[in-house]
Amino acid sequence: MKYSDLGLVNTNDIFADALIRGYAVPAFNIYNMETLLAVLNAARITHSPIILAVSESALKYMGADMLMGMIRGAKIKPSDKIALHLDHGGSFDACKHAIKIGFSSVMIDASKLPFEENVELSKQVADFAHQHNVSVEAELGTLSGIEDENTFGTQSSYTNPSDVEKFVAATNIDSLAIAIGTSHGAYKRKRDDEELRFDILADIATRLPKFPLVLHGASNIPQKLISVINEYGGKISGARGIDEHQLRRATKMNVCKINVDSDLRLGFTAATRRALATNPENFNPREFLKPSIETMTQICIDEIRNIMGSDNKVA
Ligand code: G3H
Ligand code: 13P
Ligand code: ZN
Repeated sequence: MKYSDLGLVNTNDIFADALIRGYAVPAFNIYNMETLLAVLNAARITHSPIILAVSESALKYMGADMLMGMIRGAKIKPSDKIALHLDHGGSFDACKHAIKIGFSSVMIDASKLPFEENVELSKQVADFAHQHNVSVEAELGTLSGIEDENTFGTQSSYTNPSDVEKFVAATNIDSLAIAIGTSHGAYKRKRDDEELRFDILADIATRLPKFPLVLHGASNIPQKLISVINEYGGKISGARGIDEHQLRRATKMNVCKINVDSDLRLGFTAATRRALATNPENFNPREFLKPSIETMTQICIDEIRNIMGSDNKVA
């Protein structure tokens, strides 16, 4: 399946404008019809380009045919500027499979490997992907965070700016994910005043002028969602995200893609818990999933406008 037949575009198409105008394109993780609808609704309401991020475990959960059927059903047009992106692809085969079924962009995450092996695998993916006009993201440095099917560890190491030019030149990738203090999941910071390492970001942006950078683990973790979850029977404590002003600042320093998964997970959970608790007689999932979709849509809209600055960037 060619991604262009599904109306999708690759991320090169999207990042060129983001770099010039100083905004970031959100990559929201999707894993079912509700998350897909929420992200697409928000993109259409705000006129924002968008990256639909699908992890390997989410792809396994939905099944390739089901996902691609939903993408086809979404009737996406090239002018919508929507990319379908494999998030944290762990192997050449995973990236090749995604490209074969119609993804327009892939991430090869070999960030845990030694530098030379990371280069070799990232280049192998880029060489293959480019034959299909698919864009490629790779990562230098490692983020800590949730250890689940995507195997993020407890260790983090910042990206070493002196590695980035060699890495990009040797791999021919299209965008680079960097580690400057963000982390996956809902427990990102111990204190509210913790700053991202803007000194490292500035150094990297100077060494790679006009090259798209990516921040993973960048959920904002809105505290009002945590309160709703806990009010309706949940138990989450100590969750803290990345400050929206810091993220906005990063968008002015060549960060063209900001990844958000946890915020939508929290929104989905908060709205579903509230709907079930406040209407205990209801057992129709379509009733309690409606506010869940609406809540996730609103989170996407808020982040597009207040963090990414990507609203009104598609005609
Ligand atoms: O950064 C990765 C995402 O949060 C995906 O996580 O493998 O549970 O879908 P997942
Ligand atoms: P969060 O856990 O901060 O939402 O990060 C998501 C992510 O990086 C997906 O690749
Ligand atoms: Zn990530």
